[in-house]
Amino acid sequence: MARYALLIQPSANRVYSGASAALTQSELQVFSQSVLDGRLGEVSAAAIGGVPYVTFAADGLGAGDAGFLANLSSVYALFAVEGGLLRPIELRPLDRFDDDLITIPKYQGKTNEQFTKLLLNVTLLSSEFARSMLDRSFAVLDPLCGRGTTLSQALMYGFDAGGIDLDRKDFEAYSAFIRTWLKRKRIKHHAEQGPLRLGGKVAGRRLRISLAAAKEDYKAGVTQHLDVVNADTTRALEFFRPESFDLVVADAPYGVQHGSRPPRAGLARSPLGLLADAAPVWARLLRRGGACGIAWNTLAARRDAAAAILAGAGLDPVDSGPYLAFRHRVDQAIVRDILVARKP
Ligand SMILES: C[S@@+](CC[C@H](N)C(=O)[O-])C[C@H]1O[C@@H](n2cnc3c(N)ncnc32)[C@H](O)[C@@H]1O
Repeated sequence: MARYALLIQPSANRVYSGASAALTQSELQVFSQSVLDGRLGEVSAAAIGGVPYVTFAADGLGAGDAGFLANLSSVYALFAVEGGLLRPIELRPLDRFDDDLITIPKYQGKTNEQFTKLLLNVTLLSSEFARSMLDRSFAVLDPLCGRGTTLSQALMYGFDAGGIDLDRKDFEAYSAFIRTWLKRKRIKHHAEQGPLRLGGKVAGRRLRISLAAAKEDYKAGVTQHLDVVNADTTRALEFFRPESFDLVVADAPYGVQHGSRPPRAGLARSPLGLLADAAPVWARLLRRGGACGIAWNTLAARRDAAAAILAGAGLDPVDSGPYLAFRHRVDQAIVRDILVARKP
């Protein structure tokens, strides 16, 4: 059985306070289960030449397999271990744009970009459409999108992205950033922004952009779509069609610095209150076979309580194997976890 060694991006250790090898192992196992027929074995952390790697065994890794692994959230380089030497394996990630689309925005409350990619990957790989990850576009909704880290990652993958956030400043900041970025990069696009009226009243604001990485695609009408709404997430069905998203991916308020702004009184600062109100809406927005992935602070809400809410909304939580090994400390007040649920 051939052995492989995966070098993690050095920045990942800072992000995950030393837990990056463990998170990468769990992510690798999800890739293995969902798109590699469980062919990766003996996944573990190892030091090679004094440098930390995640190593695994596989019965030959084809170009198609490496195509999936190229999109691991923390991968820096992948090697085949041959004798005492490392042979580089060429990685061709899905990335359509320069990575500053995701790295430039820096603000308090940003969900780290590597973690956002991890959450998107694990959610996508849990959907019925996992095997088409490299071949088709997906429609991704972040119903708590903040300043758009998930939306930009979805665009980076060549997908369509929808977002909702209640915070007007977040909406304006993402709108300003993405429009400036598209202009600066000379990416062909068309943007529309304005008030969103429902029943004669202004219900929020909306930004819609169609774009294409290649000019020829734009001319031919082969475009990606970004659709961001500034409104309460529980109203999402007023802005987006039911069953119009393949994936719903959200980093819930941590109940610490920001607090959730639930629509009902009495739920203040509880991520669970927000989840209870919003999960049925999010579930309706998902297509059958799609998946929902939530990140949240386990110090503010227990995993079984969050899973029960998703189950109550008609989703099937995936609660086994590597899915139980994503919990990690972010800081003193936040121990973050991931919960994924499928729409049957
Ligand atoms: C942890 S932050 C997400 C950050 C985002 N992933 C980013 O990188 O910018 C949670 C977000 O939920 C939003 N939020 C809280 N309650 C909401 C509600 N009822 N409707 C819509 N958005 C809400 C907050 O404004 C905040 O931006």
